[in-house]
Amino acid sequence: MASLQLRELEEYLQQLDGFNKPKILLEQYCTSAHIASRMLYTAQSQFNDVEGCTVADLGSGCGVLSLGAQILGANHVMGFEIDSDALEIQSRNCSEIEVFVEAVQCNILQYLPGRFEKYFDTVIMNPPFGTKHNAGTDVKFLEIATKLASNAVYSLHKTSTRNYILKKSAQFGAKGKVIAELRYDLPKAYKFHKRTSVDVQVDFIRFALNH
Ligand SMILES: C[S@@+](CC[C@H](N)C(=O)[O-])C[C@H]1O[C@@H](n2cnc3c(N)ncnc32)[C@H](O)[C@@H]1O
Repeated sequence: MASLQLRELEEYLQQLDGFNKPKILLEQYCTSAHIASRMLYTAQSQFNDVEGCTVADLGSGCGVLSLGAQILGANHVMGFEIDSDALEIQSRNCSEIEVFVEAVQCNILQYLPGRFEKYFDTVIMNPPFGTKHNAGTDVKFLEIATKLASNAVYSLHKTSTRNYILKKSAQFGAKGKVIAELRYDLPKAYKFHKRTSVDVQVDFIRFALNH
């Protein structure tokens, strides 16, 4: 389904189900169809990093980025996700829109180091920000992603951590460039959130491996 328009991609992704009972410690919140479609569309239309490519999605959740990459014509998509409940939803989402991707249930931090090195052209992910007693998870995901990808990593990071993330990525041999600044609307998924949603400033960053 290559050469899809942005609006059509967003419409596909709007049909997907999100987490039933999001798990706080795993930082389970979905990338909205609006943001996911723009991330993928930019990766394809500006950099040619999706169509015909081998793509990994780290922390694939209910599959919005994996399925979007497949819809945009990726050659092979593999999602890596720790939570079997999320993978069940992803599997239902696949059936719903008749788009199929491979999914591996694993703890990325333990399973991926030493595996699939440079196997993927592109990694696209919305990693945990590392704010739930898991400080540093965002950087660990990024380090693993830079090992897996031969060409580029696309990721979301809190704007407040921008300088640190760009410095770490340089240490991993990747050149990061902020492509867009987003207002990420975290829905009220958890009882302790008083407001119905919380806005977080987030950077959409492309990390080039072959610069
Ligand atoms: C912010 S959510 C993003 C979900 C999905 N990619 C999306 O864009 O909607 C982060 C995902 O990472 C998963 N995750 C967190 N820690 C993980 C780990 N150590 N190994 C694998 N997956 C993990 C969570 O279960 C969750 O699905």
